[in-house]
Amino acid sequence: MTAAASGTGSEFTNPNLEQMFSAEIISERVKAIGAKITRDYAEKDLVVVGVLKGSCIFLSDLIRHIDLKLSIDFMAVSSYKDGTVSTGDVEILKDLTNPIRGKDVIICEDIVDTGLTLFRLMEILGSRGANSLKIATLLDKPEPRIKKELVIDYCGFQIPNRFVVGYGLDAAGRYRNLPFIAAVKDPDLI
Ligand code: IMP
Ligand code: MG
Repeated sequence: MTAAASGTGSEFTNPNLEQMFSAEIISERVKAIGAKITRDYAEKDLVVVGVLKGSCIFLSDLIRHIDLKLSIDFMAVSSYKDGTVSTGDVEILKDLTNPIRGKDVIICEDIVDTGLTLFRLMEILGSRGANSLKIATLLDKPEPRIKKELVIDYCGFQIPNRFVVGYGLDAAGRYRNLPFIAAVKDPDLI
């Protein structure tokens, strides 16, 4: 039974969610990553590319801790699935608005799981003449990784192999608005 169904009316206190990272802890970590990117990209022509929709909250917070002239752009992709197993191919649902030739690009993701989506995205954007191309992800779930060669340049937190929601991450489109990150206790109840 969901929190709403149980009558509490609050998803923030949904008993099927187990908080993993509080809003305060996330904020500190995002601030630190922003400070590191500020140091690493001084004198560069930075474009932060958000992968919709999961990265929207991470990106919004992160760029406000990057003290540089930068621009943002977005892509939306969907992973082709063969049944429930990802084939590793991705369909571009929304492409970048502007060319990235000569730019220093950071792809901003919510979570790297198998790594198939980001690996393919690196191939696609890697062919467009960017000066550099790096990855920033809020969460890294290394256990299910298939593309072990994928290099993650900036990472918020490594997590165990559990399904998580909140701070942009969804379960069937919901829970992106939670201010914290939580593991789902029983996926059948979500
Ligand atoms: P990958 O290609 O397996 O690395 O897929 C990464 C994508 O799967 C992420 O961008 C998320 O959209 C989704 N994903 C993977 N694990 C989770 C999770 O625990 N919660 C929510 N979404 C997830
Ligand atoms: Mg995603």
